[in-house]
Amino acid sequence: MMTTAYVNGHFVPLKEARVSPLDRGFLFGDGVYEVIPVYQGKLFHVEAHIERLKKSLAAVRIPNPLSFQEWCEMLCELVRYNGGGNQSVYFQVTRGVAPRMHHFPSQISPSVFAMTHKRTSNPLISPVAAITLQDYRWFRCDIKSIALIANAMLRQEAIEHGASEAILIRENQVTEGAASNVFVAKEGLITTPPTGPYLLAGVTRDLLITLLNKHGICVREEIISENALARADEIWLTSSSLEITPVETLNGTAVGKNVPGPMWKIASKLFNEHREAFIAGNSTDKKKKHSKKGRQLEKEYIES
Ligand code: PDD
Repeated sequence: MMTTAYVNGHFVPLKEARVSPLDRGFLFGDGVYEVIPVYQGKLFHVEAHIERLKKSLAAVRIPNPLSFQEWCEMLCELVRYNGGGNQSVYFQVTRGVAPRMHHFPSQISPSVFAMTHKRTSNPLISPVAAITLQDYRWFRCDIKSIALIANAMLRQEAIEHGASEAILIRENQVTEGAASNVFVAKEGLITTPPTGPYLLAGVTRDLLITLLNKHGICVREEIISENALARADEIWLTSSSLEITPVETLNGTAVGKNVPGPMWKIASKLFNEHREAFIAGNSTDKKKKHSKKGRQLEKEYIES
């Protein structure tokens, strides 16, 4: 099957997609991105992702090239072009094409690129190994920047140590994973680091907090020290790709007594129920701020 991508207003076969080498995304990593999971042709929590994209764009002062409606239309169409089902949509906005100079050019329009890849249906979340590494990234990790060299280096280091993810430590405190957020359970209490400049406010993180709270399980958004991480009963990684993945070993030492642990089982059940209800079209998340218009639009696109 031909993989279709989207480049600046056009749907094209991915292998024919072209951008200028003068694009500031290519030269400077000057752009922001999103990844949205797609379950049975439906974009999961699309509003939250577009909302975060808006925030990232505002933070780096790139004008948002599309309205919410236009984003939804484009992404839904891309998903359809690629055969629906379970996918992962990647899309990015860069500042655009201009002669190379560091400061922002005045006459420039943003470049948009989107692509998707297949996800395995009903991902079997198996426990992973993680190691801790020093978080040497910049101070704006709340921006979902495409400049991911530090994240890529950290993930690579984890892999070279036989682990799947690096859990990052800044001044003895857990920030997040190289491409995920971190949750810890200890004696039945669940904690995740508070949002701020040192970590990305993950859509999966926020959804999980909402789902757990709704079921009477409080999640504390508090600092987790490196020591507390090492003493955790359970550690989970969350992201649009990983969903909720339990950590089996940290720096080679087993985490807690059983992996996955009892709190993960609860969290995972709630998440799976929510995802299944979303697929079936009756979301369980009453707090969801999806506008009727956006959801209707999404529905029309999926059904047409
Ligand atoms: N990354 N923190 C970082 C640094 C991330 O890169 C990601 C996700 C997350 C989790 O965010 P969310 O739950 O919204 O996916 C946290 C994506 C999946 C990626 O770069 O491929």
